[in-house]
Order: sequence, then structure tokens, then C-alpha cells
Amino acid sequence: MNISVIGAGTMGSGIAQVAATVGCNVKLYDVKDEALEYAQTALEKVLNRLIEKGRIDEQEKNRIRNNIQYVNTLRKIKKSDLVIEAIVEDLDIKQKVFSTVEKFVSEDCILASNTSSLSVASIAASLENPERCIGIHFFNPAPLMRLVEVIPAVQTSEKVLQKSIEIIKSWGKTVAVTKDTPGFIVNRVARPFYGEALRIYEEGIADFATIDWAMKTLGNFRMGPFELMDFIGNDINYTVTETVFRAFYFDPRYKPSFTQKRYFEAGYLGRKSERGYYNYSENAENKEANTDENLGKEIFERILVMLINEAADALFWNIASAEDIDNAMQQGVNYPKGLLAWADEKGIEWCVKKMDILYSRYREDRYRCSPLLRDMSKSGKTFY
Ligand code: NAI
Repeated sequence: MNISVIGAGTMGSGIAQVAATVGCNVKLYDVKDEALEYAQTALEKVLNRLIEKGRIDEQEKNRIRNNIQYVNTLRKIKKSDLVIEAIVEDLDIKQKVFSTVEKFVSEDCILASNTSSLSVASIAASLENPERCIGIHFFNPAPLMRLVEVIPAVQTSEKVLQKSIEIIKSWGKTVAVTKDTPGFIVNRVARPFYGEALRIYEEGIADFATIDWAMKTLGNFRMGPFELMDFIGNDINYTVTETVFRAFYFDPRYKPSFTQKRYFEAGYLGRKSERGYYNYSENAENKEANTDENLGKEIFERILVMLINEAADALFWNIASAEDIDNAMQQGVNYPKGLLAWADEKGIEWCVKKMDILYSRYREDRYRCSPLLRDMSKSGKTFY
């Protein structure tokens, strides 16, 4: 199969590696020659590391490497069956690139975007044949994260949707089909993990280390919210939050936090700037967590119920199936359990009660319980 990837940055080079590994013939295109050179050197390093770890041998390395051709002209992508775009997150630029790419490829070539926050419908609208356009959203790092969200736009044909699912599954990935709505599944459902943690901090209930400790120890999350925001970068994480908030017409559930905004403005971006919620410079001393079990439980349960409520609401609005929502959170962001399965475990009534306690305390729309949870609690239904 002939795959072309447009944009050889973090995501584009990762996607090219995935496709090359499963034996596709890949063309990786970028406007900048330096980006292509960098991608080539980066892949070499990744493959050498895999050899060191004993995961592949020299022959396999050469096979993967030889499946990728680095190209700086679109004429070379003519024979593509699928083009995946992974350039800057800018609608104008993406639209221009899509309408140009369309002129170079055959009529039945699928044109996909890896966008995280733009609507696929708006990208498809730039094409003469918008039915061939679809969102195929990988997670970073693409070779390691199993989840891929597949997002049909209102214009996308059923044939293009089915073919895209088939291709991505054949690459060994788990597909979650999602509606073309802000944040798709993962970037929507995960918002309370950050937002509620920041709010708990802002209310003075606990500090960063304590909140992280609670989520890791009691919730079995691999990283606490503040460690994770430092890892992702406060610039990126804040921007995603703000984009989702705007895209949802300022629904208070997605309201960004001043704390995170100030950290971003101060240049406290996280690991990459050696300073975020934690200090990463050598010999830096960070505050110890308060390991009070009761405090930890209060924090963990508050964040968990907000996550469950968000997942239930995504199901209520038919964003994706229950299985896809649960798989997405486990395989896209490594959650220890699917949130809807977690809701069943905790009890739907427990979830409703917790949400109602938060709502009656704050009287904010942010804490409104999903109608789905309320209906289920009345009828005694469970998700699974
Ligand atoms: P990046 O900045 O690492 O790479 C973008 C690449 O596109 C650069 O090499 C740049 O030279 C190239 N480019 C810019 N304009 C171009 C054009 N007109 N034609 C061809 N190449 C062009 O960006 P990154 O992080 O890889 O993101 C790419 C896309 O993937 C964005 O839409 C982003 O929202 C999405 N995404 C990013 C994730 C992440 O964690 N970084 C995760 C999932 C999706």
C-alpha cells in the first residue's frame, strides 16, 4: 500500500514509522528540507535503540528504513492510496495543503488529517471531493500509542470510513470511531483530569504533590495530573483546554485555569523548560506529598467522578460507543481502567450522589450531572 505523510514533524515522522514498519511504501513530505533531514536522523536513532533493546535486527532496521522515501515535491506522492496530513495546526494552511494535494493524487485516494482540534468538516470543505476526507488522529508517540481516533466528517462517505478503519486496524492499532466534535474522545473526556486537579489546588485543598500522589496511589494512574501537564507542556495543555472551551461555546465544564495560564505566561512550561509545577533542575528540592488517606480519597474521588461524568456525557451525546470511549482512554492516555467500567464498579448511584454533592455546594453548571447517569441510576442500569 502506498502511504504519503505530509509534514515530517513529531507526528508525521512517527506515523511514517508506523506505516513503514507494517510494510507500506511511505513517502514523507515536508516544505522544509531540514525537517526531512531531522526526521531521517531521528528514525535512525529510534531504530538503533530498538536494535540495542533486542526488539529488531539490522535487517529489520534496513527494511523499515528502506520503506520510507523523504520527498520535497508533491509530484512524488501521485501513487498514494492514503495521504495523512500532519502539518501545523492552522486551518488556513491545512485547507491550502489539502486542495493542492488533491490535484496530485488519484480520485480514489483517501485524504486524512491528523488534526487534534480543528473540525474535519472545515478541512474537507477545501476539497473538490470532500467525501474522501476523514480525520485519522494518532497519539504521541505514534509508534507506541495503540489508539487511533477515526473521525468521519459530515461529508465523508461510508466507503472512505470503512476503508480507513480497515487500514488503521491492519497497522495493529485500536480504532475508536468518534463524531467530529471538539476534542474528539480523548481530548474531551480527559479535560477534568487536569481541570479538576487545578481547581482543587486553587481552592487550597491540596498542593500539586499531594494531588499527584492521590491519583497515582489511590487511582493507579501512571502519572499525576501535574506531572502529566509538566510532561505534555503547560503551553500545549493550556492551549488545548482553551480551544476545547471556546469550541464548546464556553461551557463552564471546560473552563481553563488561571494557575495554568500564569505558569504558561511565566514560561514554566514543565520538563522542557526545567520548571513547571515541579522544579526539574539538578539538585532541586520539591515539596513532599501529604499522604493523609482521607484527603487523598477526597481528591481522587472528586477527579474520578468528574471524569466519569464527562465520559457518560460523551456517550449521552453519541460521540462514540461505550467500548470506544473506554478503550480510547486506556490506550490513548494510559488510564488504568475504562471510565464507564469504573462507573459500574463504583455504582451509578454513587456517581450521581457525588456529582449532586459538588453541584449543591458550588451551584455551578460545571458540576451538573449527566442526564445519562441520572436516568441509569433511576432505572438501575449499568454500562456493561
Ligand atoms: P510539528 O511542528 O512537530 O511538525 C509540523 C511539520 O509540518 C513541520 O516539520 C513543518 O515544517 C511542516 N509543515 C508546516 N507547513 C507545511 C506545509 N504547508 N506543507 C508541508 N509541511 C509543512 O507538529 P506536530 O506536533 O507533529 O503536529 C502536527 C499535527 O498533528 C497538528 O495538526 C497537531 O495538532 C496534530 N497532533 C499533534 C500531537 C502532538 O502530541 N504533537 C498529537 C496528535 C495530533
